[in-house]
Amino acid sequence: MNTSFAKQLIHWHLKHGRHDLPWQKNKTAYRVYVSEIMLQQTQVSTVIPYYERFMATFPSVKSLALAPLDEVLALWSGLGYYGRARRLHAAAQQVHQQCRGRFPKTMEGLMALPGIGPSTAAAVLSLTYNQSETILDGNVKRVLARYHAVPGPVESTSTRNILWEYAKKNTPKEDAQIYTQAIMDLGATCCTRTQPNCTVCPFQNNCQAYLLNSIDDFPERAPPKKKNPEHQWELIFLIHDNHILMQQRPLSGIWGGLWHPPQIEDGEGSLHDWLRLHGYTKKDLSKQIKEKSFRHLLSHKTLIMTPHIVLLSQAKKPKGHAWKWVSLPDWQEYGIAKPVERVIKQLLHQSINTRRPI
Ligand code: ADE
Repeated sequence: MNTSFAKQLIHWHLKHGRHDLPWQKNKTAYRVYVSEIMLQQTQVSTVIPYYERFMATFPSVKSLALAPLDEVLALWSGLGYYGRARRLHAAAQQVHQQCRGRFPKTMEGLMALPGIGPSTAAAVLSLTYNQSETILDGNVKRVLARYHAVPGPVESTSTRNILWEYAKKNTPKEDAQIYTQAIMDLGATCCTRTQPNCTVCPFQNNCQAYLLNSIDDFPERAPPKKKNPEHQWELIFLIHDNHILMQQRPLSGIWGGLWHPPQIEDGEGSLHDWLRLHGYTKKDLSKQIKEKSFRHLLSHKTLIMTPHIVLLSQAKKPKGHAWKWVSLPDWQEYGIAKPVERVIKQLLHQSINTRRPI
């Protein structure tokens, strides 16, 4: 056990750590758990307003478990990685139904819930109950790769295993609660990916990468990924009387459960063909505008999206499937993906500026 690492870090945290994040107040396993899921792949400053809204709506695991998934997705709109919200909801239902509303207090118990891996489980147990469990998220990997000068990209299994070993050795038996928050904070505020602030780091005298004058070499960069494939998506915004036609996407696949306008993917045909195929004739259409295309990056592919605004002269739904007229000013009540939100905001902005309904 490397106790001096923990001691130095805890001492640093007293003065330089973060002490008034919303999930640090009224600590319960549920509050900490929700924060940890939101903070996966997302920065603290982005998470805070989402977290506050989420907690105001679902103050208990029971309230989350009993809510429709739609409501959960609506509150998650814009945070991205919507699988997190679906698994969060499923986990709350499991806790409510199978654990009498109480979060398990063991690693095995927590890891049996959807979406909870070893690092998230350890964060919940250490931050809530001061249990000596070890976390290893992205920030911690970087801190340890530098402190111990661990070679190899952190994505590789062998490097990750070495980092887990160090992480376990460094975790103290006592004060795990402060230690866990401290190592996350050091990674987020001091030992940052670019331009780390080594002059104020508590580990200046024992960080191996710093002593070797090679901070920039740790962690080692992964070999460049192959370029993500690009896909062309035409989004069709069918609008009548300030309402927009949308449909809920199937739960599996991209943006599962979110509300979405019709789309034409990768040369599946022209807008004209789509409208004809879905029962629209000339007299149903009052105006068509093709907006500028924009790119939307996902982790595995890039979407090149072209919105088409189609104003209808009557409220006619396309043939087939369950379509719904969504009132444009009420769009925030629905779970909607970022690029669709972007077009809707633009539409609302235009209608306000021209002072007439779309
Ligand atoms: N990232 C993951 N968990 C965190 C926490 N509890 N505080 C700040 N950033 C975090």
